[in-house]
Amino acid sequence: MTDASNENPPSDPAAGVFTGRRLLVCVCGGIAAYKTASVVSRLVQSGAEVTVAMTEAAQRFVGPATFQALSGRPVFTSAWDQFDDADPQHVRLAAGLDAALVAPCTMNTLARLAGGFADDAVTTTLSAVDRARVPVLLAPSMNAEMWSQPATRRNLAMLSEDGFTIVEPASGWQACRRDGAGRLPEPEVLIASLADVIA
Ligand SMILES: Cc1cc2nc3c(=O)[nH]c(=O)nc-3n(C[C@H](O)[C@H](O)[C@H](O)COP(=O)(O)O)c2cc1C
Repeated sequence: MTDASNENPPSDPAAGVFTGRRLLVCVCGGIAAYKTASVVSRLVQSGAEVTVAMTEAAQRFVGPATFQALSGRPVFTSAWDQFDDADPQHVRLAAGLDAALVAPCTMNTLARLAGGFADDAVTTTLSAVDRARVPVLLAPSMNAEMWSQPATRRNLAMLSEDGFTIVEPASGWQACRRDGAGRLPEPEVLIASLADVIA
């Protein structure tokens, strides 16, 4: 008899890459936040230590309890709640990372990162990352109109220039029930992108 809970996720070509790696996955308030649960689960199954940070808006889409259960670690939802020891937790968290992924990265968070804001769990932690050493991937996800806004184009160009890696969104069916550009890529694409920057 097969126990479905023991089955592996769809094959991960980069399996060994994640063993023992410390990853930060940041979740923003986009409709695709549910897909990030699968990303976290697969990374953990591939041997990574994954810490999840969430914006306030993200918590309206998926609860922190989901990410806590999948990662087996506390979820960082506020820069003001200490869950470790005396160090400011965003500094401690950022210091030990091998890579970070922001998925979905909203139009709003793109703008705030481009502007250098550090005023929530996600942007505060990313502001403490040593970007010369730690790759940070941004996976924007939004509807086609948001994706084509001049502000979005401008912010993406600036963030690229600043050394962030942009994972191009896919085109296809969107939550606004139309086809268009701006879909969050599927979990395997996000995982492969992370594997590329780590390797
Ligand atoms: C139902 C709903 C779905 C949304 N989906 C998206 C989305 O997919 N992408 C996006 O950029 N913003 C989306 N938004 C808007 C963001 O939630 C809003 O800009 C929020 O302030 C983002 O905050 P954050 O960047 O701190 O997570 C959505 C809003 C609602 C109400």
